[in-house]
Amino acid sequence: MAREQWHSQTGFVFAAVGSAIGLGNIWRFSYMTYKHGGGAFLISYIIALLSVGIPLLILEFAIGHERIGSAPLAFRKINKKWEWLGWWSVTFVMFGIVLYYITIISWCLNYFIKSLSLAWGNDPNSYFFTQFLAVSKSPFDLKGIVSPIFIGVAIIWFINWAIVYRGVKKGLELANKIFIPLLLILTAILVFWSLTLDGAGAGIKAYLKPDFTMLAKPKIWIDAFSQIFFTLSLGFGIMIAYASYLPEKANLTRGAYLTALINSGYSIFAGFAVFAVLGFMAASQGQEISQVVSESIGLAFIAYPKALSIMPGGNIFGAVFFLCLVVAGISSSISTIESFTSAVIDKFGISRKTTVTVLCIFGFIGSIIFTTNAGLFWLDIADHFFTHYGLLIVAIAECLLVGWLFNIKIIRQHINRISSIKVGDGWEFFIKVFTPAVLVALLTIDFYNEISKPYGGYSWTAVVLIGIVWLLIDLVIAFILAARPWKTEHHKVKGRGEMQV
Ligand code: ALA
Repeated sequence: MAREQWHSQTGFVFAAVGSAIGLGNIWRFSYMTYKHGGGAFLISYIIALLSVGIPLLILEFAIGHERIGSAPLAFRKINKKWEWLGWWSVTFVMFGIVLYYITIISWCLNYFIKSLSLAWGNDPNSYFFTQFLAVSKSPFDLKGIVSPIFIGVAIIWFINWAIVYRGVKKGLELANKIFIPLLLILTAILVFWSLTLDGAGAGIKAYLKPDFTMLAKPKIWIDAFSQIFFTLSLGFGIMIAYASYLPEKANLTRGAYLTALINSGYSIFAGFAVFAVLGFMAASQGQEISQVVSESIGLAFIAYPKALSIMPGGNIFGAVFFLCLVVAGISSSISTIESFTSAVIDKFGISRKTTVTVLCIFGFIGSIIFTTNAGLFWLDIADHFFTHYGLLIVAIAECLLVGWLFNIKIIRQHINRISSIKVGDGWEFFIKVFTPAVLVALLTIDFYNEISKPYGGYSWTAVVLIGIVWLLIDLVIAFILAARPWKTEHHKVKGRGEMQV
């Protein structure tokens, strides 16, 4: 079966940007910036982008394109013993990250409708926790399923299924060609509208003014690097699969720079809308900007709704804001489903339609736990472990694998043969030494914090079972899948770089 291909390179960039721009760009980025003293976070974020984000994105594009395969196939073709690494990343993404990611999109879909009537009234905080999520007391106190969230999850899974089912060109590429311009228009409306609000100027000042003392704290760096991973979908196996659908001649580095710059540019642009609204809220309530948000999830679902209630036309503004989140979320979730789909098609030769249908049914069932009254706790713990450990470990292994267990020159020559912006010794150094060293250091600090007390004040049982055991189960599944015999011949095909020799 011939490998599916993008219709054009622009289509590929749209899809890569669609994967990158997601929920993480709007509320996660803004909240991180808020928490770490405005402009100081922007500095650490840009350093993380340039030093690790872009070199790794180039690497992932190059691995997928040169080895012509999804993550497990590409890693296998680099070194036979490492196929499991690819399976691990696509498994914890498909049966971990995307399950709760789609649940958050469902919250946004619900809030899109609720915005129209400003359903949260005067107290968005208790509305969100007590009425909407109806949060139970602890992670294992599941109670029951919250119907509106469950229905939203079913709708979002269905949309994802309908897009990925149609394949690379008619599904993913077409959807992103609609989603990305739509998202940019909606976001531009929000930004320009928010800048007209009273107090917007103070909000923007808080956004851009750096408090340099914050840069001395390790936490800001850990957050900046993990934000870069999440936002560029690195370690997800997505960018590898997406690049494998490019034709022989493809400008890989230009694609990587464009994706990274559009994605971060979008985050910074959307940040204006968030901070202008926070400035407006602080001004109308006579508070300091630093007092208006208390926690990450609270930014989109509590602080924002509070502002919408007092803003002229707040219901329309709110609907546009939550619609942005829904669109950005779906353009990313489809890519996470594609990374597993592509791996199954490559290895087992099962048809796309069957694979996607089965995956979406299992995915939907897996999401149900996050729609229960304890869903918020599960989401919080799972997200922490998947993004802080899963993604980082995959990235470190990826660098070591290509840098030390393989001839990285094959990848470098391949990039330079077909791309307009060349990579040199500096890039090799970043992949072989700098990136793994920085990531190991961050992982060590994170791990030290982890063992000093259970994450988020939960019980050790909850942290171990929901966070660590889940990642380990995915690892076992990865080894099992890697050990299964190949049903296709793809693994016998050489990389494009080697074919040139
Ligand atoms: N890159 C996606 C996001 O930022 C996963 O939400």
